[in-house]
Amino acid sequence: MLIENDKQAKHDETRQGEALVMDPVSGSKKLYVESYGCAMNFSDSEVVASILAQEGYSTTRNAEEADVVLINTCSIRDNAEARVRKRLTDFKKQKKSKPELVVGVLGCMAERLKQSLLDEEKLVDLVVGPDAYRELPGMIEEVGGGQKAINVLLSREETYGDITPVRLDENGISAFVSITRGCDNMCSFCVVPFTRGRERSRDPQTIVRECAELFERGYREVTLLGQNVDSYRWNMSSKGAIKDPSQPTTNFAELMEMVAQVNPLLRIRFSTSHPKDMTDEVLEVMAKYANICPYIHLPVQSGDSNVLQRMNRGYSREWYLNRIEAIRRIIPGCGISTDIITGFCGETEEEHQATLTLLDAVHFDFAYMYKYSERPKTLAERKFEDDVTEEVKSRRLEEIIEKQRAHGWANNKSQIGEIHEVLIEGTSKKSESDLTGRDGRNTKVVFPAVNGLKKGDYAWVKILDCTSATMIGEVVPQP
Ligand code: SAH
Ligand code: SF4
Ligand code: F3S
Repeated sequence: MLIENDKQAKHDETRQGEALVMDPVSGSKKLYVESYGCAMNFSDSEVVASILAQEGYSTTRNAEEADVVLINTCSIRDNAEARVRKRLTDFKKQKKSKPELVVGVLGCMAERLKQSLLDEEKLVDLVVGPDAYRELPGMIEEVGGGQKAINVLLSREETYGDITPVRLDENGISAFVSITRGCDNMCSFCVVPFTRGRERSRDPQTIVRECAELFERGYREVTLLGQNVDSYRWNMSSKGAIKDPSQPTTNFAELMEMVAQVNPLLRIRFSTSHPKDMTDEVLEVMAKYANICPYIHLPVQSGDSNVLQRMNRGYSREWYLNRIEAIRRIIPGCGISTDIITGFCGETEEEHQATLTLLDAVHFDFAYMYKYSERPKTLAERKFEDDVTEEVKSRRLEEIIEKQRAHGWANNKSQIGEIHEVLIEGTSKKSESDLTGRDGRNTKVVFPAVNGLKKGDYAWVKILDCTSATMIGEVVPQP
């Protein structure tokens, strides 16, 4: 696994800037997929593997033996793209010695750079945007005929709702389930609305069915995915694509309740919540169901209301703090994490201090912290100057990381003596006699294996000690 900022502890294994290589499933032609970016991309790669499995492709972990290499890319920050370009040079070398190899770029870079990617990266054969994966089989065939192929059309309807993703994860316990695609928010720093298109929701029946099938196959945790899960809204009459308030709809709180009822042993997580849209109704559903994990990732981006306004986030510092207060009131003990961008256009020292005081006010369990990276075509690129120097961005990031690390550590320590329900993911890498899993707050817990407990079981664990990223405990009877 790669992580963009090595000062940040590895916490959630699906975040931006990480690469995932697929595990094998059987078939005659060999497909190698490498994924970068957010969980949506990892989830899309499973849809792609499913579409190509129908055409007789099996996935391989060894790029050398592949007939088709697909790289599912991310454009969120400049360094995410730089990493993919570097990786492309490796495949170019491979293609030189094996000219029949098909190399394709999928995902957000494909959508952002379009034809220019084919022009610049001469050895790339395929460029496929996030809404065109159903066309992949035909496009690979075209490439076999000696042509280049490109499809970057964005859709207002595509949700791949009818496709059962081929699960390519390692543990068979946790799965991503996509509930919305695209984003209508237009935060001024963000490239996602350009690379993923308009927001659309997936039919709730297909979501519930997918979760039920996962449970049957032994999965015990689903993470419902969307760029802004709180704006999930399915409209029966319009198949979810166009929002017509006069028609009956399913909102996120209702959807989550439907999924929670699949089975009490199926844990529900979700990502990402948006502070401007997160309702008390969602929090109340979370409080009502023991199998909805008490954990919310609520990106704040900045602690200063003027910066938030320039970012076009649609909320103020006070609004955000009010949402935190609602979480703590309705779900006592809920884990809370966030994303922060430092050095956004025009950010003054005072505005930076406001982010630090917000960290103190909230005491997040975890944060992903980034330096602002200007993205072409975004509102910020057109309207503001990227005027905070690299040196200042780095110093501010250091200050934010240092403070957050202290808070995360203190929060973990405060759990010592508590009893947490842990979903077991397997044996610990360090010792065969230890088991590892996560508690509801998404913290890793390691404890000695007892009572025949195994992967997929739940255990009650008393926390005895902790490091900055892991808790250490022992199994106790259910309280
Ligand atoms: N939809 C989610 C996040 C998507 S991107 C949300 O609204 O919260 C994930 C994170 O990347 C963002 O929360 C933000 O912190 C960061 N990010 C996005 N664009 C960025 C940019 N141009 N420079 C630096 N960080 C960025
Ligand atoms: Fe980007 Fe904002 Fe949409 Fe998140 S909500 S994907 S940050 S535009
Ligand atoms: Fe990256 Fe696209 Fe996700 S830009 S963060 S892969 S939506």
